[in-house]
Amino acid sequence: MEFNAKITGVGSAFPKTKVTNNDISDLIAEYGEHTNDQWIRERTGIVTRRISEKGNPDEYNSALGAKASLLALEMAGKKAIDVELIVYGTASPDTLLPSTACWLQKKIGADLAWGFDLNAACSGFVYGLAVGSQFIQTGNAKTVLVTGVDVVSFVVNWKDRNSCILFGDGAGAAVLERADDNDSGKIIDYKMLSNGKLWSLFHVEAGGSKLEVTNDLILQNKNKMAMNGKEIFKVAVRTLADFAVNILEKNNYTIDDLDWFIPHQANIRIIEAVARRLKLPMEKVVINVDRCGNTSAATIPTALDEAVRDKRIKKGQLVLLDAFGAGITFGSVLMRW
Ligand code: UT7
Repeated sequence: MEFNAKITGVGSAFPKTKVTNNDISDLIAEYGEHTNDQWIRERTGIVTRRISEKGNPDEYNSALGAKASLLALEMAGKKAIDVELIVYGTASPDTLLPSTACWLQKKIGADLAWGFDLNAACSGFVYGLAVGSQFIQTGNAKTVLVTGVDVVSFVVNWKDRNSCILFGDGAGAAVLERADDNDSGKIIDYKMLSNGKLWSLFHVEAGGSKLEVTNDLILQNKNKMAMNGKEIFKVAVRTLADFAVNILEKNNYTIDDLDWFIPHQANIRIIEAVARRLKLPMEKVVINVDRCGNTSAATIPTALDEAVRDKRIKKGQLVLLDAFGAGITFGSVLMRW
């Protein structure tokens, strides 16, 4: 059996607290580091981001994921009980055990589902779409919930001005269902790739079974993210552009056929450089990095949600999602809305 999968609902959620560039500047000054609003705006395009309040159950990863999921289900006209599978894209789970998929299941009452966490860092949502749509395509599931949620602020190293300025917390979700034969909307194709040789470009050294967190390691910030921003920048521009060209060509489309491009939102300069390479006008690119920062797995589903809800994305349009993240992971999904 071979069916088409399509997204029938999207949703997103963010923590309450807005953190401006000036707030970050004040915060890191306490650690003897310096930055300013102008530098952050010019080098990243980020103006503000939302950060979860630590210890607030309403802003746990799974709580944000639950809000986004319920909105996505509402748009799809589905109930939580209809969900058969939860693919929870995240690299910042509530707990190591159980999975955040299980916390989400409990919170929304998706009692007939099975689910698991998928860690592909910032590519978590597009990897999740690829996995989820397999179950629809084979006829094994009719309703799949895919999330991209990260509360990455808990691993941000606030003593590293190179990385701490970039990140925010957020949640996005999508409902995947079987497309009707006469339905224009469908996932057309996807391409995923990981390159573990590039692990050191972006990683958290301690906190897994390889290296338990100790007081000494905390003092050295080994339980926080370490990032080689310059190298990631280069790899990201090259690969996002290559993935976009490849998936379009493979499906006999050109850049001109594309209605909307939704790349991972890490830095506006990465996005602009990719658009230049593709000769794609910025008017066709969906952006939320200015208001949200890099929300990791949530960047693409939250941008998609915004553009669907404000009716920029219309039925039948060609949409390309294009992600990269720690791993390094890459992935693109081409779809008709
Ligand atoms: O999900 C994906 C994860 N990560 C990424 O995608 C990151 C990709 N990389 C980037 O976004 C950029 O490389 C950064 C935003 C991290 C850095 O921007 P850049 O234009 O590559 O800056 P740079 O590292 O070349 O630094 C330029 C200057 C340096 O000073 P000198 O050596 O020229 O005197 C830095 O020390 O800017 C300095 N600098 C800062 N100044 C003020 C670095 N960070 C800051 C800061 N505030 N926050």
